[in-house]
Amino acid sequence: MQSGSAAAIKIIPSVLPADFARLGDECQALEKAGVDRIQFDVMDGRFVPNITFGPDVIASVRGAVSVPFEAHLMIEEPDHLISRFVEAGCELIIVHEETCIHLHRTLALINDLGAQAAVALNPHTPIDRVAHVLDLLNMVLVMTVNPGFGGQKYITTMEPKIRGARHLLNTADHWIDLEVDGGISAATVAGAAASGANVLISGSAMFRHPEGLAAAVTELRTLATEAY
Ligand code: DX5
Repeated sequence: MQSGSAAAIKIIPSVLPADFARLGDECQALEKAGVDRIQFDVMDGRFVPNITFGPDVIASVRGAVSVPFEAHLMIEEPDHLISRFVEAGCELIIVHEETCIHLHRTLALINDLGAQAAVALNPHTPIDRVAHVLDLLNMVLVMTVNPGFGGQKYITTMEPKIRGARHLLNTADHWIDLEVDGGISAATVAGAAASGANVLISGSAMFRHPEGLAAAVTELRTLATEAY
């Protein structure tokens, strides 16, 4: 158990591997499977070499479920679009530190819009890039792959960075969740949780689990809880 751990383990699917022709049904299946939130990977083809969907697609499935939504904004200049994702029904907004010239102002904007704010860090980005904005954060996301695609290999060398992130976040005067995203499966979730991650994103491993979504959620939650 992590020192100062005020948080429960959260298991969150990325809908990247979902059948986009049935996205509402897929979100309902995820909610029924017991996920804690649903993550939408928003990609613009500029910050990452892939394009996915925008706020209108998220809004179209908002009414299908009651589970909270988070938007992982892998987009350049996110300030222009943040309000659209909040209006679409995302309770938590994740911006990449690498895309924010004025990160403090961007996070304040998210908070002013009534949403929770989080910062994602690419594998090369040091954790101290968020050291001076902890007061504005609900969560930090340490990427364990290079963003843009699902089904990539978990980068195990990120585990010391995850440990350093947990140590930094423990210096804040409030609890800040630590999320990891990329290559999380039954084989890798324990290493991430033991390093200090309490929020685990899974796409491929969850959707491809041989016994289905509910079994995947239970397995990931059990393994993460035992290791944390
Ligand atoms: C990368 C994406 C993926 C996705 C999870 O840009 O953010 O990490 O959410 O994909 P898996 O779980 O398949 O690695």
